[in-house]
Amino acid sequence: MFQSNRGPFPQTRMRRLRAREFSRRLVREQLLTPADFIYPVFVLEGQGQRQAVGSMPGIERLSIDLLVEHAREASALGIPALALFPVVAAHGKSLTAEEAWQPDGLVQRAVKALKDALPELGVITDVALDPYTTHGQDGIIDDNGYVLNDVTSAALVQQALSHAEAGADVVAPSDMMDGRIGAIRHSLEQHGHANTLIMAYAAKYASAYYGPFRDAVGSADSIRGGNKYSYQMDPANSDEALHECALDLAEGADMIMVKPGMPYLDIVRRVREELKAPTFAYQVSGEYAMHMAAFQQGWLEPEPVILESLLAFKRAGCDGVLTYFALQAARALQ
Ligand code: PBG
Repeated sequence: MFQSNRGPFPQTRMRRLRAREFSRRLVREQLLTPADFIYPVFVLEGQGQRQAVGSMPGIERLSIDLLVEHAREASALGIPALALFPVVAAHGKSLTAEEAWQPDGLVQRAVKALKDALPELGVITDVALDPYTTHGQDGIIDDNGYVLNDVTSAALVQQALSHAEAGADVVAPSDMMDGRIGAIRHSLEQHGHANTLIMAYAAKYASAYYGPFRDAVGSADSIRGGNKYSYQMDPANSDEALHECALDLAEGADMIMVKPGMPYLDIVRRVREELKAPTFAYQVSGEYAMHMAAFQQGWLEPEPVILESLLAFKRAGCDGVLTYFALQAARALQ
């Protein structure tokens, strides 16, 4: 039997500090603010175009003009940055993905438009070839379908440079090729972009939670039946994530990211504690979709659940979170 050695009263009453709002606030360890969010958005060709993403209720692909207006709202809510992902039409896809580094490509034009309209809003671009390849892999493949590392890395360097030249504040390689952070950093320095930030998708797992995103950017059909096991990480591994993050930092990354988010907060905690570098995580499309499904069924209450899920990232050690809930959460925090 559990017994106090000082009579019938509990020695310590943990509930005392929980009894009043003022003392709950005084001892609160984490505070969620709109400055913690990065908002991922999908950009589409055309004018006045918006398309709903079936598997991500509430998320739309927007043409540049509408995206700028949407971004204005995000910025006004205090969200520091957005992450841009292109929906590339079939004629922009090829085996070698050269559409990815056209100076007047969709992403490059979107970056310019956003920076012109909202210079204070940080723009993060995705450096990866999957929206541009006919097969949906994040790189250039050989005859057996194997993604070639160094050839792909050279292509990513051109893509990242074209983003920096368009005015991107942060380039974010999400491809998981070896050595690409160092190669991109070197090229940025050589071309006068010493202050372009790199946010590395350093510990990116081969996750089944990316399904809705592949619908959103239109790479789901291309990849069908395939997988990314030869470059994204095995969900069984944790030490390997530290190795990946340490390499990307040594190669010149300014910020590292763990992806997906909620099922991988143990990785965030280890990375944060061992590397002490700016750490981010991505609450990915599948995490968004499962929350939305439960909200639509009336099984969970949206606002408190969204805020709790995002607070958990901070408690685990994140400086910020990429989340499709950024607008809703920022509104709830106003
Ligand atoms: C691809 C990329 C993916 C995501 C971001 N960049 C998908 C993938 O690796 O197949 C997923 C984001 C999400 O699920 O929200 N370079």
